[in-house]
Amino acid sequence: MNVMRTKSIEQSIRETDEPEFQLKKSLGWIDLTVFGIGVIIGAGIFTFTGKAAQAYAGPSIVISFVVAAVVCALAALCYAEFASTVPVSGSAYTFSYASLGEIVAWIIGWDLLLELALGAGVVSQGWSQYANLLLTDAGIHLPDALAPKTLENPGGQFNILAFVLIVALTGLVAWGIKESMRVNLVLVAIKLFVVLFVIFAGLAYIKASNYSPFIPPAEATEAAKGIHQPLIQWAFGFTPSTYGVGGIFAGASIVFFAYIGFDVVATTAEEAKNPQRDLPIGIIASLVICTVLYVAVAFVITGMVKYDKIDPSAALASAFADVGKPGYSTIISAGAVAGLTTVVMTLIIGATRVVFAMARDRLLPPSLARTNPKTGTPVRITIIVGLIVAIIGSWLGNHINLEEMVNIGTLSAFALVSLAVPILRKKRPDLKRAFTVPWSPYLPIFAALASVYLMMNLSLETWIRFLIWMALGFVIYFSYGYHRSRLSGNAREGDIPSMTST
Ligand code: ALA
Repeated sequence: MNVMRTKSIEQSIRETDEPEFQLKKSLGWIDLTVFGIGVIIGAGIFTFTGKAAQAYAGPSIVISFVVAAVVCALAALCYAEFASTVPVSGSAYTFSYASLGEIVAWIIGWDLLLELALGAGVVSQGWSQYANLLLTDAGIHLPDALAPKTLENPGGQFNILAFVLIVALTGLVAWGIKESMRVNLVLVAIKLFVVLFVIFAGLAYIKASNYSPFIPPAEATEAAKGIHQPLIQWAFGFTPSTYGVGGIFAGASIVFFAYIGFDVVATTAEEAKNPQRDLPIGIIASLVICTVLYVAVAFVITGMVKYDKIDPSAALASAFADVGKPGYSTIISAGAVAGLTTVVMTLIIGATRVVFAMARDRLLPPSLARTNPKTGTPVRITIIVGLIVAIIGSWLGNHINLEEMVNIGTLSAFALVSLAVPILRKKRPDLKRAFTVPWSPYLPIFAALASVYLMMNLSLETWIRFLIWMALGFVIYFSYGYHRSRLSGNAREGDIPSMTST
């Protein structure tokens, strides 16, 4: 068996010129940075910050944000080098196909689907909670069964708001990426306004006493036992606890969700006008901007409300309601609705581009990847991905807690991509690299270890689900992709004959 076969970079780039699979090249670096911010700032800051501060880290959630940012920055450098060397749709999947071999590429692609499709579903649920809040304010009440499932509404069955959102956004994405980018720009502006509003309006309500203790002492808790405890506690036999220094890292593994998305910039490589220069700028700029904003928001919120009183679901809006400013809280909810819309849309775009790249390589049925000549987008894939995300957001997410799954999928892709950087340098020193990671191989290896360390702070339950997902991926690969792949030598009629394996 030859599961480690790799696809040459030249081959990847050449395939992007095949007319039937061609995407429009229309994005500049500003578009890419806006795109990055559009997908990064979302449910992570609007909802999970409160949850992580209250349950894991207290005010030291500020440090958790810095820890998660460092892990992301290390991975971002590796992504930037790859994106500047292999400017092909599909992001980490394509990078690893060129360096680590087909099976690793498949694993990464499979992980990215967790990140992107599941992520879109999770964020659509956060969106629906804020949207429902606004509807209720306007006097419109959905039947319990159709409203978002929350602590107050345990009877939620089918989340109609999430469903409608995903169907509408899927239509927009299928219509054409530049059009979607325009909508994105407006929504990103609203989102940035709201985040800055939280920071500046909140400064006046900070009480220094809320910061003490800054790192709450570690506490043994029921909630952190059994399969709910982080893998690292279970593996090393630590006493299950929350807060303390362990809480900072557990918090970091949760708020990591808030940074997901900078890597999605790399999935649009083929749609960039000058990918070698613009992709690294887009990836790094969006990450830096979001880090500064997150640390500031976390600092303000934990200063406004004592950590054990922070609302675990809508922390940003509730903090203002708590200090007697309900009007501010409505503005923030409205901003969250706008803000989370772009996140769901961008994650759907990312998911379609990864499936696109995998189908073009015949690891999934190639008929899916045909682009529509009129819109220049892969319409079939977009519709299928949209349907799956709709099922996740409107139904599956009501029954299973999925955000940690998104994190573990993303972190595992980060680890593999980081390792791929020194491998590709060794295999192909001749390639033009517009951007290079400093101190390779040390920095990439450290980046991979940092990602794995955060993964170990996720719960045992998440690990079990992740392993099941991976097993499913292997079954599909060995029963379909391995035999049909462009590199398998079993090319079928209609396949492009210019195939070589290196
Ligand atoms: N980073 C994105 C969010 O926070 C996925 O919603």
